Amino acid sequence: MPVSRADDDINAEGLRRLFFFWQGAKRSKSVRREIADLIEQSAAIPSVPQVVVRFLEITQDPQFDYGKLVDLLASDPGMTGEILRLANSALFGVSRQITSIRQAMTLLGVRRIRSLVLARYLISVINDRSAVLDVRYFWRRSLTSAALAAKLARHRLASLQEETFIAALLADVGIVLMAKALGEDYRPIAECYVPGGVGETASLEQERFGTTHGEVTALLLDRWQLPTLIIDTGKYHHGEPPADAEPNVTTMVQLVSAADGLAKHLCESHDVATLVDACHRCMEAAGVNMSMLPAILEELEEDIADLARVLRVAVLPERVYERIVHEIREHLSAPAGQGPSF
Ligand SMILES: [Fe+2]
Repeated sequence: MPVSRADDDINAEGLRRLFFFWQGAKRSKSVRREIADLIEQSAAIPSVPQVVVRFLEITQDPQFDYGKLVDLLASDPGMTGEILRLANSALFGVSRQITSIRQAMTLLGVRRIRSLVLARYLISVINDRSAVLDVRYFWRRSLTSAALAAKLARHRLASLQEETFIAALLADVGIVLMAKALGEDYRPIAECYVPGGVGETASLEQERFGTTHGEVTALLLDRWQLPTLIIDTGKYHHGEPPADAEPNVTTMVQLVSAADGLAKHLCESHDVATLVDACHRCMEAAGVNMSMLPAILEELEEDIADLARVLRVAVLPERVYERIVHEIREHLSAPAGQGPSF
């Protein structure tokens, strides 16, 4: 991997500065701007390696030269190995063995390769232990949300399915940054971000720190120069995008927010009636017909396991989806008035 150990860890001095600033900034009305400035100036955010920056630059041009991209990726053997590993995972349904970058691009498409590069690299940067955050729960929920968002996007925003996947995968990374930067001060909020936790994380953050993990996520993704669409989706995933936001942002926020809601319930609740009720609400919010959900959930556990394996993150084991799929199918096929009362 092109990530050095020094880049891989959030700089301790940067964290201390952020922590003390945050402590003092709790009472400040202009906390958001000041936190933004501090994060920009501090060494708290690891930089993206040049190969990723160059990859994004090249692929931004719709007429780009494939050869340039192949040469760029081939110049980094670590990156090449990761891309091939991801490309060969069952998640993307490619039956034949992919052995070269050029073949991967032909079979999977450049946009999907771009998502794989971003996902693998960015997750390696933020995948770390935390004293206050349940990281295994964090990854299970984030991977569940990403897999769901990609599937929901097929029905509403097929042309931006990859972007929706990345946006959902990274939407909550602000939580990891805040937990690392604030340590014990963030513990009361981190304690809500657990299976069965009570309380709305974003509201508690706003109340306590004057900012939310969505805004911190947006700062990070902006620093990494990700597409504006992904940054804005991270920023607004717990609220409303501004009225003049581009329509794709609004749709992507709806999808990511709904996927996050579904993921939260799937990861937290084992009461099937409550889950199915939550599924109804989230599918309505996503603008996707409820009848699509059983097929989405049937593949979900396998998708999460694949993602966790190729992205090398540890997740909590779960097997609740089969029961939910069964209940939803029964509910959908029951004559009006005879189904379960959700
Ligand atoms: Fe969130």
